[in-house]
Amino acid sequence: MKVGVVLGTGHGEKGTTGAVVDDLLTRMRQRTDVELDLVRTDELTLGPSCPACLACMTAGEQACPNSDNAAPARAVMDAADLVIFATPVHSFTLSATMKRFVDHFAYLIHRPRYFGTPAVLVSTAAGAGHDAALGYLKTAIRRWGFHTVAELGVNGPGLEKAPYRAKVDRALDEIASTAVQAVRDGGEPTPTTSDLIGFRVARLLVESGRDDGPVDAAYWDERGWFDADWFTDAKVPRVANTVAGFVEGRIRKGIANGSAKPYRG
Ligand SMILES: Cc1cc2nc3c(=O)[nH]c(=O)nc-3n(C[C@H](O)[C@H](O)[C@H](O)COP(=O)(O)O)c2cc1C
Repeated sequence: MKVGVVLGTGHGEKGTTGAVVDDLLTRMRQRTDVELDLVRTDELTLGPSCPACLACMTAGEQACPNSDNAAPARAVMDAADLVIFATPVHSFTLSATMKRFVDHFAYLIHRPRYFGTPAVLVSTAAGAGHDAALGYLKTAIRRWGFHTVAELGVNGPGLEKAPYRAKVDRALDEIASTAVQAVRDGGEPTPTTSDLIGFRVARLLVESGRDDGPVDAAYWDERGWFDADWFTDAKVPRVANTVAGFVEGRIRKGIANGSAKPYRG
């Protein structure tokens, strides 16, 4: 089984996040052969932040000035049967280099490609912020096609206490089994209402960007997605799709008439 790891910490494999990922990999190896491919977001030369030129959307990912530097990360995700995305919690969310990694791959929201590939999400913290860090990662990578099969947020200092350590170990055992089984089973989960809204919003974005550059729209044309309800052959639940259609209608109307309301919290 090819397992890709995207490790979002400057402390590398020796840090708290790296150690938790290592514990998970050890357990996965007890269940199957694991071929590991790891990339550290701190080592990817992606500039201080995404240059925000949008060339990846309009001219293709190779047009990004950081394209070559991101190639190892892309290779890890492309080859993997399962990807572990792991980040320390920094100021109640994911680390800055993990966010920079996500930003680099923003074109995958327009041209998703990882349907059928399961993901496991890991965060470590002193004590708080797993919900925001993992919640964000889960949403972001779903837009790229991955589906999350397990999440684990671990408080580093807690690991010194035997009862907490035992709970983490139990969770790691469970997650290792879930992850290995997800790859063996293959396939895609049934799309949720949120997935179907995401599909329609992506379609709207790609459609409205057609005149800015042909790359996104050509990708959708090739796959017949403009005439579809979802990216894959997975069964689309009728009620969820009706709700998604309604939301899309409201969004389109809001854009066309300027009737959308500014966000006020
Ligand atoms: C800049 C910075 C911000 C942090 N913010 C939080 C936080 O918001 N909540 C928390 O519980 N821990 C926070 N921490 C602690 C780390 O999440 C924790 O030590 C983590 O396990 C480190 O993992 P690593 O060794 O893999 O880098 C922060 C650490 C740093 C360096």
